[in-house]
Amino acid sequence: MTINGSELWEDERAPEVAAPRMRIRTSADILATQTERPRELPRQTVFDARDVSVSYGEKTAIAGVTLQIQRNVVTAIIGPSGCGKSTFLRSLNRMNDSVPGFRLGGQVLYHGHDLYGPGVDRVEVRRRIGMVFQKPNPFPKSIYDNVAWAPRNLGMRHELDERVERALRGAALWDEVKDRLKASALGLSGGQQQRLCIARATAIEPDVLLLDEPASALDPIATAAIEELMHTLKRRYTIVIVTHNMQQAARVADRTAFFSLEERGAERVGALIEEDATQTIFGRPRDSRTRDYVSGRFG
Ligand SMILES: Nc1ncnc2c1ncn2[C@@H]1O[C@H](COP(=O)(O)OP(=O)(O)OP(=O)(O)O)[C@@H](O)[C@H]1O
Ligand SMILES: [Mg+2]
Repeated sequence: MTINGSELWEDERAPEVAAPRMRIRTSADILATQTERPRELPRQTVFDARDVSVSYGEKTAIAGVTLQIQRNVVTAIIGPSGCGKSTFLRSLNRMNDSVPGFRLGGQVLYHGHDLYGPGVDRVEVRRRIGMVFQKPNPFPKSIYDNVAWAPRNLGMRHELDERVERALRGAALWDEVKDRLKASALGLSGGQQQRLCIARATAIEPDVLLLDEPASALDPIATAAIEELMHTLKRRYTIVIVTHNMQQAARVADRTAFFSLEERGAERVGALIEEDATQTIFGRPRDSRTRDYVSGRFG
């Protein structure tokens, strides 16, 4: 089956991945299997969120969110606390599923597939769509074992040392840790731990990286390292980053989505106010609420 340039197929060619019956195939995979140099692909929609609403029990966190996220683009999500930035981000890799009372309305299409449709394997979703959280959360294991953890779990044991090195280099951490790979990850600084978490998330070469305020606990030097990293990573990955730091959004993001709280009856519900090129959001936003927020006039 082919939908919007991607396919679902019965998994017969991926022995290294543990057991999923169905996998989502993206054009990156298709390109990886081509021997001839491919023609450049048109901009590709990775996520197509259609009228998405999320509630936790009686509480509606977000409603009516319609947003497309493009491949190899950094999209920032900004907005005041409680407007549903994390909720929306976590709905992109089904991270909310385990929250009691969680309900999602509307549709999230990932490369054209309904992420919440029947037959979608959640393990496979997490393999494709990696996530890094606000607080660095390395496992109490060695640096090496942190990065090797997901590949081992998924049965990707072939050339594991090379894979670990590649991920650590990709996260701009290799030079700092190459002589102490067996040392505990908990001995790293906060900024190093966060880069380790990025290496851990990219070790299985996902398609998308979701980052929820990845630099908010870091000092300016570590923050600059993470921002620099994002510019490199976007060549390989599609990145969605939630940030409270508007300078950061302006520096790292190609596109920016502004969320805010809207009154709906007696409730205040998170909504997408507008999404556009970052320059437009910060320079000439259409909506006065965006203008107030980006200019620091927000209540
Ligand atoms: N697990 C949960 N159970 C119940 N309500 C939740 C849960 N997670 C979030 N909410 C509610 O959903 C709304 C949106 O929360 P969310 O964490 O997505 O906001 P946010 O924009 O990421 O805020 P912040 O900037 O403070 O991180 C809030 O009203 C919050 O209380
Ligand atoms: Mg949040």
